[in-house]
Amino acid sequence: MDERIDELREKRREAEKGGGEERIEKQHERGKMTARERIDYFLDDDTFNEFDQLRTHRSHNFGMEEKQVPGDGVVTGYGEVNGRKVFVFAHDFTVFGGSLGEVFAQKVTKVMDRAMEVGAPIIGLNDSAGARIQEGVESLAGYADIFHRNQQASGVIPQISAIMGPCAGGAVYSPAITDFIFMVKDTSHMFITGPDVIETVTGEEVTFEELGGATTHTGKSGVAHFAENSEEEALDDIRRLLSYLPQNNVEDPPRFEPWDDPERRDEELKSVVPDEPRKPYDIQRVIEGVVDEDSFFEVQEGYAKNIVVGFGRLDGRSVGIVANQPRVNAGTLDIESSEKGSRFVRFCDSFNIPIVTFVDVPGFMPGTDQEHGGIIRHGAKLLYAYSEATVPLMTVITRKAYGGAYDVMASKHIGADVNYAWPTSEIAVMGPQGAVNVLYSSELAEADDPDARRDELIDEYREQFANPYTAADRGFVDDVIEPQDTRPRLIDDLEMLSTKRKSQPEKKHGNIPL
Ligand code: COA
Repeated sequence: MDERIDELREKRREAEKGGGEERIEKQHERGKMTARERIDYFLDDDTFNEFDQLRTHRSHNFGMEEKQVPGDGVVTGYGEVNGRKVFVFAHDFTVFGGSLGEVFAQKVTKVMDRAMEVGAPIIGLNDSAGARIQEGVESLAGYADIFHRNQQASGVIPQISAIMGPCAGGAVYSPAITDFIFMVKDTSHMFITGPDVIETVTGEEVTFEELGGATTHTGKSGVAHFAENSEEEALDDIRRLLSYLPQNNVEDPPRFEPWDDPERRDEELKSVVPDEPRKPYDIQRVIEGVVDEDSFFEVQEGYAKNIVVGFGRLDGRSVGIVANQPRVNAGTLDIESSEKGSRFVRFCDSFNIPIVTFVDVPGFMPGTDQEHGGIIRHGAKLLYAYSEATVPLMTVITRKAYGGAYDVMASKHIGADVNYAWPTSEIAVMGPQGAVNVLYSSELAEADDPDARRDELIDEYREQFANPYTAADRGFVDDVIEPQDTRPRLIDDLEMLSTKRKSQPEKKHGNIPL
């Protein structure tokens, strides 16, 4: 028996060496951890259970039968994060460049299947040279098997991707379907075709980092959600993200022991919104004044900054936050912010996370760029996402809620459960200037002193329409509240709504305007 056990231990030691000392050293020189080091750092201590450590590929092409590495370039299994079960796979770049072949793909689909069956999140740590060339179409089949499962798992279990090396060609489409993508600055790259191919085809010259680095994808393309300074930071943030999420779509998110007074009233909120309606302010200050202390975890911080999205807690319960940001483009909704907002709303709705929306929106962004880029279609996504959401929706209008954008931003009419307005709110078809110009153009043209008359009319309009009281009179907002009361009110409402049950009409699936 002892001999047999020694033999097993030797095989395990062999597998743990991956592609060998030299390649591991190269990995470290590049500032990267190995697959096993990443898993070890990520999971709670001593919780990792590995699957298929001894599997090897079956390829006989290009002398591959001579090159067998137990584990075949990917480490898979399950463990715990803060005591909760998660499944993981980590590409091992030291083995055939982490390239994916038949067996590699089978190992990944096995953990995906287990994660789906038991209802636990799956986290993929990507660092791979793509399809394993020697395995040809088997590799392509393997990718498709994974993509298909990504779609099946979407909205059932949280799927999170970390990109910690190359991720190119078809390989990008697995992370692309997952819910959140974390990238590490300088060492991770995502693209469909690399700089060489681009130069050959289009003549453009571009570096790896400019083309598909973390800053590009979290700032320009919106493909990724988090740009991290190191692998450790990325793994820490994935652990933090998981703390806001349920294990699957039939569970509620975990409730944390509250650490902040639910009755806390932040008196400074009274002075956050400036008296001058066109003056910007930082909506983050409002969010911070309302959610549990230090609980706001922003998502896609670098992209479409005119809308802020992220997770927070109210009396220990997870909420998703969506907020117009008056500091950037006056908080207007444009193509990018509509997409960012709608994807976040849909994520929260899939996973039973109530949504708090802070509204200060002067409307949709005007311009031919926006119109020709399809703002109608993209803006409709946000409207659609809120309208289909069945989780508790709580809305607070802090200042402007104009036109169609008022309707879109979780208004009562599209299904919000509680709607509040601060006394500074202006709920109207458009702002006073625009309205007066439309309504009184001929009168103003004939006026002796058009500027003075315009000011008079603007004051009149403001008094009549640019306030929350008409909406309150109709019941479109449930109450006009003092800013400092927002936190205790939302906490009470969240408790009241915690047993909310609402469903969509029976259908195969809706047809969101993509
Ligand atoms: N299939 C099989 N093996 C591959 C591979 C692939 N697609 N890509 C890389 N490898 C192997 C290399 O042969 C090398 O093996 P070795 O350690 O035994 O010498 C190892 O992986 C590391 O590759 P290397 O090129 O030395 O690493 P690098 O860091 O210098 O470059 C890449 C990384 C990803 C930029 C580069 O390997 C590359 O361009 N690979 C091809 C990517 C591709 O076209 N994939 C298919 C499309 S999805």
